[in-house]
Amino acid sequence: MTLFERFNNIRQHTEKLMSPLSVEDHLSQPITDVSPPKWHLGHTTWFFETFILAKFKQNYEVFDPNFNFLFNSYYESVGKRLLRDMRGTMTRPPLERVYEYRKYVDVQMEQFFDENPPAEALKLLELGLNHEQQHQELFLTDFKYILGVQPFHPVYDSHFSESETEPHQTWLEVEPGLYKIGHDSEHFCFDNELNAHRVYLNHFEISSKLVTNGDWLKFIEEGGYQNFKYWHSEGWGWVNDEHIEAPLYWENIDGKWHRFSLAGLEEVNPDEPVAHISYYEAYAYAEWAGMRLPTEAEWEIASDQFDWGQRWEWTDSAYLPYPGFSKAEGAVGEYNGKFMVGQMVLRGSSVATSPHHSRKTYRNFFHPHLRWQFTGLRLVK
Ligand code: AVJ
Ligand code: FE
Repeated sequence: MTLFERFNNIRQHTEKLMSPLSVEDHLSQPITDVSPPKWHLGHTTWFFETFILAKFKQNYEVFDPNFNFLFNSYYESVGKRLLRDMRGTMTRPPLERVYEYRKYVDVQMEQFFDENPPAEALKLLELGLNHEQQHQELFLTDFKYILGVQPFHPVYDSHFSESETEPHQTWLEVEPGLYKIGHDSEHFCFDNELNAHRVYLNHFEISSKLVTNGDWLKFIEEGGYQNFKYWHSEGWGWVNDEHIEAPLYWENIDGKWHRFSLAGLEEVNPDEPVAHISYYEAYAYAEWAGMRLPTEAEWEIASDQFDWGQRWEWTDSAYLPYPGFSKAEGAVGEYNGKFMVGQMVLRGSSVATSPHHSRKTYRNFFHPHLRWQFTGLRLVK
């Protein structure tokens, strides 16, 4: 596949994911963390326009000079931008015009591919493609939230499966010793996966299986959400302030737990891996179970021994730079490094992750209270 074919496939995949949406669906922002689908369409396009076309294409004319303000997410070096929580109020530009923007940039990119782009531009192109894939997953989880606040549980796609069968539970052992973690190949990775380095691991055993809804029901029934002793102080504050008593999207109807999914509302399936829990909940569950969460290094080394890919798995590692980490030059240096405080690392990938967008060294990260991604956990003892 040529680079241009890959570009086209990824661009089209975004639009295909949004094809079931109504025009109204494209503008909702029920909470600050959830971006409107229209914004994702514009922002991913802006990324190619700003970091590739405007920089490297001769005589490139931007599509609309106001779009830098509207679709810049967080790049201080690229100028002022719309406040994040105002994204859902932008009735203008209309959706149609954002699609024209996509078309315009796609055509310009096609020309650019024919003009023998320099290596630096190709590197940014690779980043742009991976960036759009990240936004494809964010779109699915954001749209789940957008539908999830509607009283009548609308369906995104009746065939969207949020789980496969989990394997039989066994304990997988890792011997103590020095191991190498981090990205160590010619293929693309984000800067936060570098540098590869050695870590010492003590002996541990990790579950072959994710914690399931059935396990979680026991935690609920045995008062896990009511007993301070399982929780961090911050987590306990969060549970009480937010009146948390079950994972996000769980709803107790006439004494029976249901959960909202992209395929609509269904009774909770005890065999499915639990989803939509915060780091605080993952930690409390592990305490209750008398075990712990893996560190990100433990997860990465053990991951060759188990199947993963259904849930982003909370680790007990803070999101920090690896030894030797350095930010890229220029605006894209703001991509990951500046978020390395106050967030926790998640490993794996999820049912919403785009095809060809996961690897065992991938470091996802979110604040500990967030749970609108497909987050789950795996225990270590
Ligand atoms: C890696 C998922 C935390 O949501 O901001 C999107 C992905 N980075 N655009 C995020 C991302 C730039 C990032 N996460
Ligand atoms: Fe982005």
